[in-house]
Amino acid sequence: MTREDSPEVLIIGSGAAGLAAALRLAEAGHQVELACKEQLASGSTLWAQGGISAVLDDGDSLEAHVRDTLIAGAGLCDEAAVRFTVERGPECIRWLRDRGVAFTVDDSDSSGRRLHLTREGGHSARRVVHAADATGRALETTLAGRVAAHPRIQVRERHMAVDLIADRPPGGAGEHRLLGAYLLDIDRGRVISRAARAVILATGGANQVYLYSSNPHGASGDGIAMAWRAGCRVANMEFMQFHPTTLYHRDSRNFLISEALRGEGAVLRLVNPNGSPGERFMPRFDPRAELAPRDIVARAIDHEMKRLGAKYVYLDISHRPAEFIRSHFPTIYEHCLRLDIDITRQPIPVVPSAHFTCGGVATDLAARTDVPGLYAIGEAACTGLHGANRLASNSLLECLVFAAAAAEDLQRQLAKIPSPPPPPAWDESRVSDSDEDIVVAHNWLELRTFMWDYVGIVRTSKRLLRAQHRVDLLKREIIEFYRHYRVTPDLLELRNLVTVAELIVASALARRESRGLHYTLDFPQTGPAAQPTVLTPPRH
Ligand code: FAD
Ligand code: SIN
Repeated sequence: MTREDSPEVLIIGSGAAGLAAALRLAEAGHQVELACKEQLASGSTLWAQGGISAVLDDGDSLEAHVRDTLIAGAGLCDEAAVRFTVERGPECIRWLRDRGVAFTVDDSDSSGRRLHLTREGGHSARRVVHAADATGRALETTLAGRVAAHPRIQVRERHMAVDLIADRPPGGAGEHRLLGAYLLDIDRGRVISRAARAVILATGGANQVYLYSSNPHGASGDGIAMAWRAGCRVANMEFMQFHPTTLYHRDSRNFLISEALRGEGAVLRLVNPNGSPGERFMPRFDPRAELAPRDIVARAIDHEMKRLGAKYVYLDISHRPAEFIRSHFPTIYEHCLRLDIDITRQPIPVVPSAHFTCGGVATDLAARTDVPGLYAIGEAACTGLHGANRLASNSLLECLVFAAAAAEDLQRQLAKIPSPPPPPAWDESRVSDSDEDIVVAHNWLELRTFMWDYVGIVRTSKRLLRAQHRVDLLKREIIEFYRHYRVTPDLLELRNLVTVAELIVASALARRESRGLHYTLDFPQTGPAAQPTVLTPPRH
């Protein structure tokens, strides 16, 4: 395949989901193009620490993993999606090992093959496969190396998808036909159109919609917004997960302190007025204490910080042997040490931050969306696995399972999908270069600030309505900007973020109860029947 030929499948995004789908398809003989807006090894996957959940221990069971996932999901998981995912976990781990991902092995095993399993909140057994505390890096760099070397995969780095291209039948009746996608070639500053028989969105989550996030900059919900504009339903967007423990430090704003520390015994403490570690508070909130699901731990920290006017709380693992800490958590140890925090001797100041988008583009168990030929996988998708709250380390698992499911479905479907006609070229005849980039920067900050203040861990209807009003104003301004000026990555991300913010606020307002990650003071009780929030885009 040359750079100009149309691929059979265009994959947008090169995190765990995109890379795994590309390899599965290429290994089955298909021509794939993979576009990513940064370099190939990028996205949240690269930063994942704790690991990947999968039932591998004789004392564990698929049933227990299913149960733990359902409990964390607060009654809203789709049980079929949960079983589908959990059952395919062990095969995905074998697949990764066969492709060279070096997970941490159990040193008590003489064969050197048995994997070390760690534990995280909400899991009733040790079932988290990991590569020390840099699991995502091991997975991402290994798969990226294989993708880059594969003759049937064409990689386009620094190519950012602007929108999907679909035929819109006259009068709006009938099904959309997917033709491909527009990609902004960031280095050349021009938009190209790429035709494909099928497109997979693997663009990750939308957590940069909040001022404080554990995610890298590019987590701007691009795939969710593009799918929405193309006519797909989007589900459960009110369930934004806040990770309880991000490092609180002036010089390091979004560094995660893995839940695996709590799995290995770290405890949360209040901060005494003199700065020393104080009372251990989690047992007051939940019998599972620090290993309660994330929504409970994050809310408890938020509650204590607000009650005491504290800027942070402490996470303390210093009671464990120093050598154990250094060997299990080398990345976190080194990072904190560079900031003069020796975690083998001192507690770590931590705060919650936006971490994971449980909702997303509504898909079925084959990762199909509402638009024929369009698939969504990974954090961009809502498969029903997470319900109202994701269980730790179930996300990378979901990426791998649904990448395989999409690839399997496409192997059956591709021969039946005709080659699309050449898509229309991008029209720039009516735009000019912006001389007001400050507007984009200002709106970006404003959006993320009010989302943090009004649509955060604890919500009220009044604050949600206030946020809705501001989203409306910003949206109008951003659309105006988009119509008149040449597109840039920052403008495209802002346009997507405001759409995602609109979907989050609309979903939160529609849910008149508290459940899982959605907690509102106006409806503090959980309702009798669990229903997903499914938003349908207006027809154009
Ligand atoms: P990502 O890995 O985020 O990749 C998205 C890709 O899409 C990137 O390549 C990006 O450049 C590209 N992209 C986005 N928009 C566009 C566009 N418009 N055009 C072209 N390309 C685009 N989960 C676990 O299960 N276990 C963990 O231990 C764990 N730890 C985590 C630690 C941190 C710090 C973070 C941030 C998350 C963690 N998570 C963990 C969550 C998990 O890492 C993510 O949910 C998962 O990696 C998402 O993978 P993905 O492939 O869907 O998206
Ligand atoms: C962590 O290591 O705490 C993150 C795990 C996850 O997000 O699943």
